[in-house]
Amino acid sequence: MTTTAQAIPQRSPQEIIDLRRRHLNPSLSISYREPIKMVRGEGAYLFDQNGQAYLDMVNNVCHVGHCHPAVVAAGQTQMAQLNTNTRYLHDNIVEYAKRLSATFPNELSVVFLTNSGTEANDLALRLAKTYSKANDIIVVDHAYHGNSPTMIELSPYKFDGKGGQGRPAHIQVAEIPDDYRGRFRRGDPLAGKKYAADLHRAIGAIHARGQAPAAFFCESILGCGGQVVLPEGYLSEAYAIARAAGAVCIADEVQVGFGRAGSHFWAFESQGVVPDIVTMGKPICNGHPMGAVVTRPEIAQAFMNGMEYFNTFAGNPVSCAMGLAVLDVIEQESLQANAQAVGDLVLQGLRTLQSEFDLIGDVRGMGLFIGVEMVKDREKLTPATEEANVVIEYLKAHHILLSTDGPYDNVLKLKPPIVFSKANAEEFLQRLREALQMLQ
Ligand SMILES: Cc1ncc(COP(=O)(O)O)c(C=O)c1O
Repeated sequence: MTTTAQAIPQRSPQEIIDLRRRHLNPSLSISYREPIKMVRGEGAYLFDQNGQAYLDMVNNVCHVGHCHPAVVAAGQTQMAQLNTNTRYLHDNIVEYAKRLSATFPNELSVVFLTNSGTEANDLALRLAKTYSKANDIIVVDHAYHGNSPTMIELSPYKFDGKGGQGRPAHIQVAEIPDDYRGRFRRGDPLAGKKYAADLHRAIGAIHARGQAPAAFFCESILGCGGQVVLPEGYLSEAYAIARAAGAVCIADEVQVGFGRAGSHFWAFESQGVVPDIVTMGKPICNGHPMGAVVTRPEIAQAFMNGMEYFNTFAGNPVSCAMGLAVLDVIEQESLQANAQAVGDLVLQGLRTLQSEFDLIGDVRGMGLFIGVEMVKDREKLTPATEEANVVIEYLKAHHILLSTDGPYDNVLKLKPPIVFSKANAEEFLQRLREALQMLQ
């Protein structure tokens, strides 16, 4: 047997940019004014073509560290043995389903596997529509749930963003429960409940069209909305309102799941609720494409109308082996506890900077999912979008990778691989201090 490693030409960044322009879809974006060519990853670091290391603080996909040897080995070993679909019996898929469902409350015991977060949300919507026999959907403002036509239609981040076509009639948008910028502020113990009350309005609008709500979609910590931690009591009230109207409650954990939130393995647990459906993706296989849906048996059963759910690659032995390795590594390396401890340290350091620099309006987050909202004026909350961008470029010049998010693009979004260490946190906080001093 011979092995042929195809020699792929190694090109300069400019040559790659030129070839992308010529041969790739023009709607792909590139990070940074001066793009970086990355060639290798390890732990919390990426390395460019000159061997320069960059501390990666924005990758919540390579969750347990870039190219974690145990995950790579699991994929390589299984790839060399067998890769096929779910129509044959295989140990990996049942072991994975058993292990994944064990991380959830008992009610959530049935697993569907997909190839991405988008597919997971698409499938969750099909399950919800079948179970509820309804059609309309409630989403939270500024949310992003995926790239398929269906998910673009229910993602305000896209349909209200550049090139978007506006809100479709069957989608209702609930007010974002942002207790820094929104109508009800932190310190109001009822803020969560008050924001959730907006679902009554959304459901009223659905009923006024002669329809009923099939689903309420909500991330367990809001990502594109600006790293917003849900105020206490939000999900329990929102779920109660949605369920009373017959809707299925879907928690999108694509960004925040698998221990990132620190205090809990799943971020919805911090709200004291049990969703009807949970969707997962990004970190699930540490970079190998997979997604998952976990639901209650009665919802899975209602989907059984005779039509097979077949998805060629989903649940294949390689993906399941890698997914199992990710679960093992999180456990063996105590990475959820690390997310909690190092996340607390970062939050503390950021709060110190907030007390010194007026540009930092708000610091929020859980575990290693953190937002730093930059404002020009703490009273008016004028977004400091340009300043946030200056910070990003300064950090990049010092080999730390971060990006911004939120409706005004003024929130520094921190979501590093959860192997992020205390030393990494200290380095970041020092560089951020320098950037803020420069902006003063
Ligand atoms: C909250 C959320 N849901 C779903 C998705 C879609 O996942 P994917 O890009 O894997 O299809 C994303 C992707 O960014 C996301 O952030």
